[in-house]
Amino acid sequence: MKIGTPKEVLEGERRVAMTPDSALQLQKLGHECAIESGAGEAAGFTDAAYKEAGVEIIKSAAALWKASDVVAKVRIPTDTELKRLTKGQTLITYFNPSENEEQLKIAAEKGATVMAMEMVPRISRAQKMDALSSMANIAGYRAVIEASNNFGRFFTGQVTAAGKVPPAKVLVVGAGVAGLAAIGASTSLGAITYAFDVRPEVAEQIESMGAEFVFLDFADTEVKDGAETGGYAAPSSPEFQAKQLEKFRELAPDIDIVITTALIPGRPAPKLWTKDMVEMMKNGSVIIDLAAERGGNCELTQKDERIVTDNGVTIIGYTDFPSRMAQQSSSLYSTNIRHMLTDLTPEKDGKIVHDMEDDVIRGATVTHSGEVTYPPPPPKVKAIAAQKPKEKPKELTPEEKRAAEIAAFKKQTKNQVTLLAVGAALVLAVGLIAPASFMQHFIVFLLSVFVGFQVIWGVAHSLHTPLMAVTNAISSIIILGALIQIGSSSMLITILAAVSVFMASINIFGGFLVTRRMLAMFQKS
Ligand code: NAI
Repeated sequence: MKIGTPKEVLEGERRVAMTPDSALQLQKLGHECAIESGAGEAAGFTDAAYKEAGVEIIKSAAALWKASDVVAKVRIPTDTELKRLTKGQTLITYFNPSENEEQLKIAAEKGATVMAMEMVPRISRAQKMDALSSMANIAGYRAVIEASNNFGRFFTGQVTAAGKVPPAKVLVVGAGVAGLAAIGASTSLGAITYAFDVRPEVAEQIESMGAEFVFLDFADTEVKDGAETGGYAAPSSPEFQAKQLEKFRELAPDIDIVITTALIPGRPAPKLWTKDMVEMMKNGSVIIDLAAERGGNCELTQKDERIVTDNGVTIIGYTDFPSRMAQQSSSLYSTNIRHMLTDLTPEKDGKIVHDMEDDVIRGATVTHSGEVTYPPPPPKVKAIAAQKPKEKPKELTPEEKRAAEIAAFKKQTKNQVTLLAVGAALVLAVGLIAPASFMQHFIVFLLSVFVGFQVIWGVAHSLHTPLMAVTNAISSIIILGALIQIGSSSMLITILAAVSVFMASINIFGGFLVTRRMLAMFQKS
């Protein structure tokens, strides 16, 4: 089949749905690739680079649509583009089907199959095709860069000869994909970062990235498991919302940068950063509202605009952050498309098999065989399971702690005494039949196994790898012993010695390999 990518027609859109790299991968699936001349220019991919990757360059958009069996693009198709669809053709793109009923009907009447990239279900298997996530990741990162560009100070705190600079304080509202990317970028720039989300299960992720989770003193029984709601949050109760705003009001005077990403798909963005909160913020503060497309999380956000309020707060409502990093986003988006086509080409023979039983393909397909197939049924596999928040361990009084320690010690001693008694009985039993010379070695062997086990058992898991490297020394001793014995006249001893050399060699070479890998992890490339 021929996969074609036209130049994006929406003004300001710099991304492209096929890169020279993704084209190489698509060709491995047995497909031919074509691109409209200049389609990758704005993202830094020249026609020459495509040509070198074996992609056919087609002069006009009309010719490209006509020649392609599958058209892959980024933005929702325009009316002119929809008219170009032909029977049996597949279009893979963002489509926003919930708000484009009319366009869906046109595509269905044309007999084309449309796969909407935003409809890829959030299940583990589909993560590699999840364009919403890959774009949100870029948007989250870029939001922090944009904030720092508009913020007049360092992110990190500094003590210099010229004076002390306090670190910036950043609040990220909504810790989904974009929010977590923003947290990562913000903490790595050195800002003190706080984050809030209605899903308490993300607290651990937030903290593991070096940010502080803003806890609300509230028990909302209505908060649902993200897995039950397709991997997204469920709407929170009015009482919860009031508590949330109260907390934000408390934080507002102290926060320098707010990055809001809160959204539940298919709903308008909740208003979380109100006018009075903006008024409480310091002059020079910055708000980046990633939810601007759906009305914004901040009351004062203007879509696609940068405004500065009377009290000097900059509010940015751009909706094209991924396009502002077109090369990176085109690489990730085209990889998402390529994975989608890998699923559509199970035999890697250049033939598309549209399996409507497949959760991911069914979920993304919004028109097929002349019919509108949106909305899809819920996927058979549940969304990526949300982790339950860890229960906080119960606080113990000093007396309770002491009693617990004594009980644990008694239990451990009892276990050890039982083990020793069983071991002694076994040695005695062996001693009754075995010769004295054997028993001497046997007891040394048993003791070394016991001591070795006790030592290794006490080593923390994270230190097992270096421990393995250290055991190389022990393995060398084993090999020396085995080499002395290997020439023995007894066949059994020779075999045992050979096995020892073999096992110890595995340990030695494995140890070297692991050590090399560990050292490489600490080397800067
Ligand atoms: P996501 O669904 O992964 O994350 C949204 C998060 O907001 C979830 O963790 C959810 O629990 C949380 N949330 C929902 N309601 C909330 C509330 N009332 N208070 C606090 N948290 C709440 O979504 P993703 O992929 O991270 O996208 C985030 C936003 O970024 C979306 O609005 C998306 O449209 C936008 N976006 C903007 C771009 C731009 O260029 N401006 C580009 C890409 C995405």
